[in-house]
Amino acid sequence: MAEAVGIEIRKLYKIFGPQPDKCMALVAEGVGKDELRDQHGHVLGLRDVNLDIAAGQIQVIMGLSGSGKSTLVRHINRLIEPTSGQVWVGGEDVLAMNARQLRNFRRKRTAMVFQKFALFPHFTIMENVEYGLRIQGVRRKVREAQAARWIERVGLKGYEDHYPNQLSGGMQQRVGLARALTNDAPVLLMDEAFSALDPLIRSDMQSVLLDIQQEVGKTIVFITHDLDEALRLGDRIAILRDGEVVQQGTAQEILLHPADDYIRSFVRDVNRGRVIRCRTLARPGVASSELKLDAQMVIEEAARELNAQGLDNANVVSSKGKHLGTICMSDIIEAMLPARD
Ligand SMILES: Nc1ncnc2c1ncn2[C@@H]1O[C@H](COP(=O)(O)OP(=O)(O)OP(=O)(O)O)[C@@H](O)[C@H]1O
Ligand SMILES: [Mg+2]
Repeated sequence: MAEAVGIEIRKLYKIFGPQPDKCMALVAEGVGKDELRDQHGHVLGLRDVNLDIAAGQIQVIMGLSGSGKSTLVRHINRLIEPTSGQVWVGGEDVLAMNARQLRNFRRKRTAMVFQKFALFPHFTIMENVEYGLRIQGVRRKVREAQAARWIERVGLKGYEDHYPNQLSGGMQQRVGLARALTNDAPVLLMDEAFSALDPLIRSDMQSVLLDIQQEVGKTIVFITHDLDEALRLGDRIAILRDGEVVQQGTAQEILLHPADDYIRSFVRDVNRGRVIRCRTLARPGVASSELKLDAQMVIEEAARELNAQGLDNANVVSSKGKHLGTICMSDIIEAMLPARD
């Protein structure tokens, strides 16, 4: 299996329009997206984006429509050329690659999963899934074995000879995922991959992805509009507005310390008690009670435990039983209340 790689994005700018380089100076001076469009006829796609994505992690990118999410992810495999900045994948400078190197990089190092599935309608499921290996020149036996493995893994065994239009939307997206995994690329780029699916099917697909990720440990960049999806999938989340990263961090950090009103409006309706974990609220020290709560337990559950035992505080311990600190009811209640406006 391909080894996981990290992604580094440095000072990335993208300006759409006839003379992007000229506009760089304006943007550097602080001209914003609206002014650039209205006064200068250019669109600010990205502004000074810096992102470190660790190998084997799921990085979620969130933001309103038009905030630059797709533009950002398309820089990672250089489907879009930046106006300025750097993109490194696994220590390789993507912008320094020549055409042949870039073709190779796209085929072998990255795989994409699209919102609209993008399957070949006249290919069977097997032919769709093995396509990436076929264009790499991999022998039929080898590629069919690989494809069959992932078709089975996403729960579609028995559908190898069907055509995409014979499958439901959820099943077609499983094919999209199997196709991406069959390439065995270390980087998976998923742009609103589950957004077209019904809520229950969507939640199913999130489980499938998380389950497979346990096994494959890929570096996944996952774009979504949906905060619940972001919180469930993202090891880390970056939030874009008008082409700028306004906050990045773990779900816990963003929920507890939203950087501004824009982020606050995103996180307002989250059920915080079911997202924030004991480890996040643990303070140094030892509890006055004997109760031990797992660091990974969500605080709603912790509140229930404390309440049931008539206690005010408990010890927070790691899965191996190591003492990490204490948690108390008033901190839990404070954390469960939505952030103040
Ligand atoms: N090829 C292009 N030419 C001109 N402007 C573009 C181009 N591609 C994107 N843009 C602009 O760049 C900005 C960011 O677009 P992008 O598609 O990245 O947003 P997004 O966050 O993916 O939105 P959505 O959630 O609707 O998919 C938008 O203002 C968009 O109009
Ligand atoms: Mg988009």
